[in-house]
Amino acid sequence: MENTSAWLKKYDLPVPRYTSYPAAPHFTFDFGSEAFATALAGIETQAPLSLYIHFPFCRSLCWYCGCNMKVANDSGAMMPYATAVRREIEMVAALIPGRKKVDSIHFGGGTPTWGPRAGREAVTQALRAQFDLAPDTDFSVEADPRTLDGEIADELAALGVNRVSIGVQDFDAPVQEAINRIQPFSVVERGVMALRRAGLRDLNIDLIYGLPLQTPETVARTIELAISLTPQRIALFGYAHVPWMKKHQKLVERLPLPDAAQRLALFSAAQKTLTEHGFVQIGIDHFAAPDDKMARAAANGTLNRNFQGYTTDTSPTLLGFGASAISALPMSYAQNDPGIESYIDTIASGRLATVRGRHLTAEDARRREIIMNLMCNARCTISPDIAVQAAPALAPLVEDGLCRWENRNDLVMTDEGKPWVRVVAACFDSYHAPSTARHARAV
Ligand SMILES: C[S@@+](CC[C@H](N)C(=O)[O-])C[C@H]1O[C@@H](n2cnc3c(N)ncnc32)[C@H](O)[C@@H]1O
Ligand code: SF4
Repeated sequence: MENTSAWLKKYDLPVPRYTSYPAAPHFTFDFGSEAFATALAGIETQAPLSLYIHFPFCRSLCWYCGCNMKVANDSGAMMPYATAVRREIEMVAALIPGRKKVDSIHFGGGTPTWGPRAGREAVTQALRAQFDLAPDTDFSVEADPRTLDGEIADELAALGVNRVSIGVQDFDAPVQEAINRIQPFSVVERGVMALRRAGLRDLNIDLIYGLPLQTPETVARTIELAISLTPQRIALFGYAHVPWMKKHQKLVERLPLPDAAQRLALFSAAQKTLTEHGFVQIGIDHFAAPDDKMARAAANGTLNRNFQGYTTDTSPTLLGFGASAISALPMSYAQNDPGIESYIDTIASGRLATVRGRHLTAEDARRREIIMNLMCNARCTISPDIAVQAAPALAPLVEDGLCRWENRNDLVMTDEGKPWVRVVAACFDSYHAPSTARHARAV
């Protein structure tokens, strides 16, 4: 622990979260719908697919929110959007050769469970009509517990959903007020009970550390309450404060935000409580029950990372539908227009809504392999040419004990260094320019 304060001074830098490589700020506008269509036509015919559908609407604004979302309280906004997503699914499916077998589906947002049932049904029907879905395909949905009742839980079960992630963030009342996300434990418990009654047993809980008014004690108490709801997985996200991108986050600054040392103390308190209860840490910010599929994937080295964070999904292609959604293909990334109206208009005119992306070079693919291995497994074999290029940035990190070399070519994070893995990963990132980068901080 004596290292920690020295490391905080030296290494608490803005670095990407590496949900992709190159990171999304390095996507360029010369990659458009034609490039995406060509990439889709090249998808290997037997390879399984993973599908992400973005539902941007929410009932109200949470001040900390970093997602692409819009407050909407009438179905007038939502049905034209669902119609566009259905059309996009048909257009994209028509461009993909072969069987189109799907291993996993994720509805994210915004709040996919907010808004009319007809929207979710139209999208799910289009997926079933255009893709090859097995009855047991992994199908997960993000839900806001404040609007999660028996009716929605039954609807999700009928759609074929088999995992629900609920947004809790923090159970402490003053913290909830400070971030404009008021939901007492009883509200969350009622939502979880509705899911269980509908037969939906696989539960993830999202929490955030680094919020105003949090202390190690309040965070430990939040973790205890979250565990009492018996989730299989808990995501413990570091609060990403990026008010230059999300102006409403200025509202969070009405109370002081914890500094880097306090953030690390909050994370450590949460981590301690979770591990005392038998949860296994997965990568930088997930925890899972030891018998959960994600804990097994982490143990056998098959864990993956995509735009939703850590995943057990191993499909080589992720297709993203809806405004702002990103597709990750073996050698390219493609992002849709983030504007809801312009996305709907483009799709209605019969064109794909890709606005930016990136082709990967063979060198990018090698570096992506290294960065994703470090993020998922906290170790990676580095080829000598890349090790030489990374040496100037990496040497001080090795010297300070954040990571170490084993068997000459294997770079391994030390236990104390693991929270700093994004700083180590950045040494292999050819696009990262520390002086100009604008990301959330490293811890
Ligand atoms: C799309 S939201 C989840 C679904 C639903 N909208 C809700 O809030 O309950 C996904 C998760 O992202 C996390 N999140 C949102 N903004 C964040 C931020 N600025 N920093 C860290 N995590 C954030 C929250 O934990 C949230 O539950
Ligand atoms: S955290 Fe969830 S509910 Fe809150 S504004 Fe963001 S997406 Fe909507």
